Amino acid sequence: MKMRIDIVTLFPEVFRYFDISIIKKAKLKNIVNINIHNIRDFSEDKHRKVDDRPYGGGPGMVLQLQPIYKCLKFLAVYPNKSSKTKIILTKPGGVLWNQNFAKDFACNVERLVLICGHYQGVDNRVSEYFVDLEVSIGEYVLTGGEIPAMVIVDSIVRLIPGVLGNHLSTNKETYTDDIKYNYPLYTRPSVFTTEEGYTLSVPKILTEGNHKEIEKWKQQNINL
Ligand SMILES: C[S@@+](CC[C@H](N)C(=O)[O-])C[C@H]1O[C@@H](n2cnc3c(N)ncnc32)[C@H](O)[C@@H]1O
Repeated sequence: MKMRIDIVTLFPEVFRYFDISIIKKAKLKNIVNINIHNIRDFSEDKHRKVDDRPYGGGPGMVLQLQPIYKCLKFLAVYPNKSSKTKIILTKPGGVLWNQNFAKDFACNVERLVLICGHYQGVDNRVSEYFVDLEVSIGEYVLTGGEIPAMVIVDSIVRLIPGVLGNHLSTNKETYTDDIKYNYPLYTRPSVFTTEEGYTLSVPKILTEGNHKEIEKWKQQNINL
């Protein structure tokens, strides 16, 4: 299944991250198609303004409804969209994103639109009329929704079948059902001496080739 992702943002240049590593490979394999849209391009203001002061007063500016509405129309996800299309708004107070959401979206969503907020936030009518899910990536406040959008996209795309070389590797990591693989990892050299003279060693048992003992060690050292 191919997934189409559209990102609605004031800062398209941030998304160079999608041109490296796994996401780049997923795009080259034609498993995912990612398009970035500048909210300003949809503004009907002659100065391409996209923000205004909040009704009722309060600090800062609010991202306006009009350009976002026009962008969603351009993307043809309003007034009608399929049940396999989801529109997410990034918001610090939204539902906390996790691996189960990522898995669910990777398996069941064909089209994803991510709206990146900015300033004090987004005119709430965007949530009331267009958005399926308001998503937070953690209990802290960032400047804009671009980093959250990257986090959400990365966590989904790597779980789409065919994206990672060995599809089993996504079952054997933190926050999957298969927690028995979450033990500490080490690689060569087994002994590393720092310039200050400290010796940093790999647990001896892992280097001795006794598979039964190694398995026991792994189970005893699972990170939960
Ligand atoms: C400066 S924040 C707005 C904070 C807002 N006034 C508040 O108190 O919740 C601007 C934008 O960044 C994004 N953002 C910031 N922190 C986020 C988080 N933890 N998760 C998701 N989006 C976040 C949202 O899109 C938000 O509209």
